Amino acid sequence: MIELEGLTKRYGEKVAVNNLSFTVRPGIVTGFLGPNGAGKSTTMRMILGLDHPTAGDVRIDGKRYPQLKDPLTYIGALLEAKAWHGGRTAYNHLLCLAQSNGIPRSRVREVLETVGLTAVAKKKTKGFSMGMGQRLGIAAALLGDPRILMFDEPVNGLDPEGIHWIRTLMKSLAAQGRTVFVSSHLMSEMALTADHLVVIGQGRLLADTSMADFIDRNSRSYVRVRSPQRERLLDVLRQAGIVAVQSGDGVLEVDGGKAEQIGELAAQHRITLHELSPQQASLEEAFMRLTAESVEYHAHSGTSAPSPEPARQQWGDGWKRG
Ligand SMILES: Nc1ncnc2c1ncn2[C@@H]1O[C@H](COP(=O)(O)OP(=O)(O)OP(=O)(O)O)[C@@H](O)[C@H]1O
Ligand SMILES: [Mg+2]
Repeated sequence: MIELEGLTKRYGEKVAVNNLSFTVRPGIVTGFLGPNGAGKSTTMRMILGLDHPTAGDVRIDGKRYPQLKDPLTYIGALLEAKAWHGGRTAYNHLLCLAQSNGIPRSRVREVLETVGLTAVAKKKTKGFSMGMGQRLGIAAALLGDPRILMFDEPVNGLDPEGIHWIRTLMKSLAAQGRTVFVSSHLMSEMALTADHLVVIGQGRLLADTSMADFIDRNSRSYVRVRSPQRERLLDVLRQAGIVAVQSGDGVLEVDGGKAEQIGELAAQHRITLHELSPQQASLEEAFMRLTAESVEYHAHSGTSAPSPEPARQQWGDGWKRG
């Protein structure tokens, strides 16, 4: 378990992390989301005691990081920057970490195997690709067989097979009862991985909610309908009290889960359908609306209109759950 209480970090005038309080629980994958510069990496560095909070407190299983004996056996982490000596081999890099944390030598081979680096274990890490570097970072995080794992943007630089692999790994670590905390700025990626979401923007907490709740609240469902007898279909739907909106290319959109009803009405009136497909609006859109107010680095496309209302008003306070 990781507990944050009023955690704050200032760099001069800049408030990178602003009064964050939340708990990361065991047995599930918790996604930590926010746009670029939201304060995710800064928060993770404070959890590991690499940065000192300006205010507030963070506890790992009830203790502060410096109070942990052999910390790699409590919490394993993959942070953004490559923090190893490029002249060492992958094996020696992990062996050094193991020896300074009271971890048996045999564990080095095990984790190299787990992350698929056995074949290059004796190669110097400076020749590693970005994806191999991420795998070595993950091996280091797993080395002490810790109950808590924290990954900062772990899929960066990984190919599709690697992304699938890390997703499966995180889920299986959580299923073993471990605490898994993983950051990303991609909602679509988290939707496939996380059970719980913590969303921040400009250092502040925007949402602390289960993924199921996030999907419930944000995924507008509708049915796409195409028919060569569109006008007749519109009449029939109208008579049945069903509101259809015409979008481009002669497609009709009907809100809610009414696919069966539309199909049956069409059959009764002998109307041909070319398409009847339930759809979900993307969670990426929902995430972008939630964080729109707090995005620091906008692209200048000239087309993206700013959100008319502050994000918190649109989304309500029901999100902040303890
Ligand atoms: N050492 C530092 N000195 C000054 N400002 C910093 C420092 N580290 C981070 N910041 C600022 O704090 C804010 C949060 O940065 P952080 O790296 O934590 O964001 P992030 O959510 O990890 O973003 P990304 O998705 O791009 O990785 C940014 O505005 C950043 O410029
Ligand atoms: Mg970061």
